[in-house]
Amino acid sequence: MITGFFHEWFLIFDERSDDMIKRENNKIKIEGMDVFELVEKYDTPLYCYSEKAISKQMKTIHSVMDSLREFHLGFALKANNNIHLINYMVKNGTWIDIVNKNEYLLAREGGTPPEKIVVNGNGKTKAFIREMIEEGVFSINIDSKEEYEVIREILREMDSPQGLPAFMLRVNPDVDPHTHPYISTGLKENKFGVQMDTARAILLSDNGLITGLHTHIGSNIYDIGAYQEAFETLLDLKKDFSRLNFINIGGGWGIDYEKNGKHIDLDAYTEHVLPILKQFDCPVMMEIGRFILGPSGVLLSKVLYKKVTEFKTFVVCDANMANMIRPALYNAYHHVKPLHVNSSDDEITADIVGGLCETGDRIAVNRDIEDVSTGDLLAILDTGAYGYSMASNYNAESRPAEILISDDECRLIRKRETVKDLLKKMKV
Ligand code: LLP
Repeated sequence: MITGFFHEWFLIFDERSDDMIKRENNKIKIEGMDVFELVEKYDTPLYCYSEKAISKQMKTIHSVMDSLREFHLGFALKANNNIHLINYMVKNGTWIDIVNKNEYLLAREGGTPPEKIVVNGNGKTKAFIREMIEEGVFSINIDSKEEYEVIREILREMDSPQGLPAFMLRVNPDVDPHTHPYISTGLKENKFGVQMDTARAILLSDNGLITGLHTHIGSNIYDIGAYQEAFETLLDLKKDFSRLNFINIGGGWGIDYEKNGKHIDLDAYTEHVLPILKQFDCPVMMEIGRFILGPSGVLLSKVLYKKVTEFKTFVVCDANMANMIRPALYNAYHHVKPLHVNSSDDEITADIVGGLCETGDRIAVNRDIEDVSTGDLLAILDTGAYGYSMASNYNAESRPAEILISDDECRLIRKRETVKDLLKKMKV
């Protein structure tokens, strides 16, 4: 008989039909694949993604946004740059948002045609902008007055170029999305976009080059009011400039990291935000990262030690801040599930930590979890976005392997790094 916290937890584990990880016939499966066999084959730490989950997240977005006259779903490649995942999303109709040449090349390699690529970023070089114009991307989002001048200069130098991308102005509406300060991007003290008065001045002086607006107010947002405020601000601007015929609303939808039901409220979004978007009366694009891939990936890790001290219990595992930096960098919460075939109601409170040489190297702090011992597996949930893409080689760690599970097959989509990979770049 399981009681209290664990009783509820196991109900979630066993019965929530949309969960990526399920217990079935005394096995633990990720989308039908035996987790122990996966680990046997690919080792840990291991990033593991599910096509089914990606598809579900994409459908959820469409079910909210498709009542708009014309809607384009884009994926923010920074959330995860694996070309196989990009390919899956692009095949299913997604456009791609990129910020530099490498991201552009990965998007292309993943099968994205240039006309479905949107270029963002506040530090685009002149050479990069010129190249993106020549490549024929869908749009280039202008981050500043200074960048606007550079674009004008490029166009003069190019001497009547044909088939230009759409140029959109990134507006900073000065709205607080109430998220972590590092990932809030639409406040006036943030480095992104132009303030409203600058936006008006640019649009007044501009002779028709800019035909759309862009904004992105931050990431992991739960506050619907922030979106309302931001889009109303943009709507005011659009009403004054009739040539603006496209709006890119960025991304930012928050997900249920804590498994307590706190995620972006899509009913409230439909009720309060969509009516504003409808008033734009033009195509709307979104470039979203976390909401699509976050819940579609888990990081599997092995317990190395359970270290018990007078003050604390530490579960030392082979995931760490080099392969998953979000807890160290943003104090982010990721749910951690011990994967035991036979569940137990023994519970511990522990810090789940990596083996790297700083105290910030942790996955969870003071976390109540089912008791574990050496060799047990942990699933660190919601790590499909900003997990691998932010991994580093700190302490000369190898970046993990990545696998993708489709209906009934699983394939390696990125090899685990080796020390040879690291040395190759140093042997110069
Ligand atoms: N568009 C722009 C211009 C962005 O800068 C971003 C994310 C997105 C779209 C996608 O936002 P999303 O839908 O994924 O929230 N490393 C941080 C997140 C940084 C987000 C950066 N920009 C984290 O791990 O939480």
